[in-house]
Parts: sequence; structure tokens; C-alpha cells
Amino acid sequence: MISKVARLSTRSVRYLEAGSGTPFVLLHGFPLGAEQWLPQLVQPPAGWRLVAPDLRGFGGSGLGAAPDGVTMATYAADVLELMAHLEIPKAAVAGLSMGGYVALALVRQAAARVTRLVLADTRATADSVEGRAARDRMLEILGRDGPLGVGREMLPKLLGETTRRAQPDLTDAVRRVIENNTPDGLEAAIRAMKGRADSTALLGTIACPTVVICGEEDVITPPAENEAMSRVIPNATFVTIPHAGHLSNLENPAAFTAALVS
Ligand code: MLT
Repeated sequence: MISKVARLSTRSVRYLEAGSGTPFVLLHGFPLGAEQWLPQLVQPPAGWRLVAPDLRGFGGSGLGAAPDGVTMATYAADVLELMAHLEIPKAAVAGLSMGGYVALALVRQAAARVTRLVLADTRATADSVEGRAARDRMLEILGRDGPLGVGREMLPKLLGETTRRAQPDLTDAVRRVIENNTPDGLEAAIRAMKGRADSTALLGTIACPTVVICGEEDVITPPAENEAMSRVIPNATFVTIPHAGHLSNLENPAAFTAALVS
């Protein structure tokens, strides 16, 4: 696995890359970064070239905008720009949680450039009224306690009950990835998630083979919601990941990777 920086027109994008073959772009969730995909990157499935960027403002990627100037469409356009820079005309795309929101925005912008789609632990709907109020509370926590506070708030929900009990090191590893982010980058993402469009109508138009994956202990985007989403996508299958919560690719990498390339 290698860590690289692409110098694009207006900012730098840091990404991790591993394996060779058909390009597969992996989009991380909030409030993480490309490191979320380490289990897949250290053992890339045969025949796949994995590319995992830090989304704009996360980890080593520049924000290049005001914290209130980023939308899901911005992140999606960034991914397309990185693909062009890497001379990847088309790719399989996997997005987990916020990465799934970005993947759907990418399909909306350039469906022809997505050959296969993996939506993991995510949802197509916009934030509810309660969800938007929770975003405002998260912005307050971020303003008061920084990324540390966001981590403290989210960690118990990100990881499943089994993981928190059986893999205590993973909690520390995820905390380190969260704390590697800047307040401005996290603020931009919270605002972008709060303002994101409903993608429900888009689901029926997705033409490429799709896998919807969900950790069986996911309390943020539960299995029933992910399964319902898979039912409206024409060519989709649904897979649950045992003993895993919201960060299913990290919590049960073997089962997740098998589903990813299925
Ligand atoms: C994520 O994991 O990306 C977030 O939990 C998504 C969200 O808060 O909507």
C-alpha cells in the first residue's frame, strides 16, 4: 500500500492505493479518512486496484473552501477530478455511510463512470428534522471540544457492541483517525450532510450491478433501512456483516471484502 498526494487544480488530495487491476474507489465515512479502508488496502482482493482518497478537508486533503461552501456534489466532483488525474475513466465505487452519500451524488453526476456500486451502512434519504437538529448539536460539540469531542460523541455509535467488547484496540485506532482531522474539515462535512438532497428517486435509476452491505449491529443506519434501499435498486443484492456495527469494513474485514468483490 502506498500513500500519495495528487496536486490538483486548486488543492492537494491525499489518497492510499494498493493492488492492481480494475480500479475500485473507496469512499470513507464521517468523521474518518482513507485509513478507514486499511483492512482492505493491506490485503487487496486479487484483480482490483484500490484507491481510497481522504475526502476534501479530511486527513491530508486540503479543504480549499470555506466550511460552509461544501456539498455532497462538491465531494463527488472531487472524486471525478481525482479519477481523471489518475487516468481512470470508469471505476467500481464503494461508499460507506457519508461515503455512500458521496457515491450517490457521483452516480447523479456521472453514472456512466461508475461500473459497479457498493453502498455500505448508508441511506438514500436526506436528514430528518431531528437529524438536522442533531447536526447542529454536533457543530456545537465540535466548536467547544474540537475533533476529540466529535470522536467521544460518535465512537459508541460507530462501532458495534461486539467490536467494543472484543476488539478494544479498534476503538483506539478509530479515535486516532478521527483526531487526525481538522475542525474546519469536520464542520464542512457536517454542514454538507445536513444539507444533502434526498436521493431516494435516484435509486430506481441505478443501472450498474450494486451491492448493499450493512453491519448487523449498525445502530446509525440499521440493516432494515439498508435492505429496503437495496430492494428499490434494480440490480442489487443485500448482504449483512455479522458481528459488525456501522464501520462494518473495519469490524469484520473478511466478510466485508468478500461482499465488496462479490
Ligand atoms: C458516517 O458514518 O459517515 C456518518 O455517521 C453519517 C451520518 O452521520 O449521517
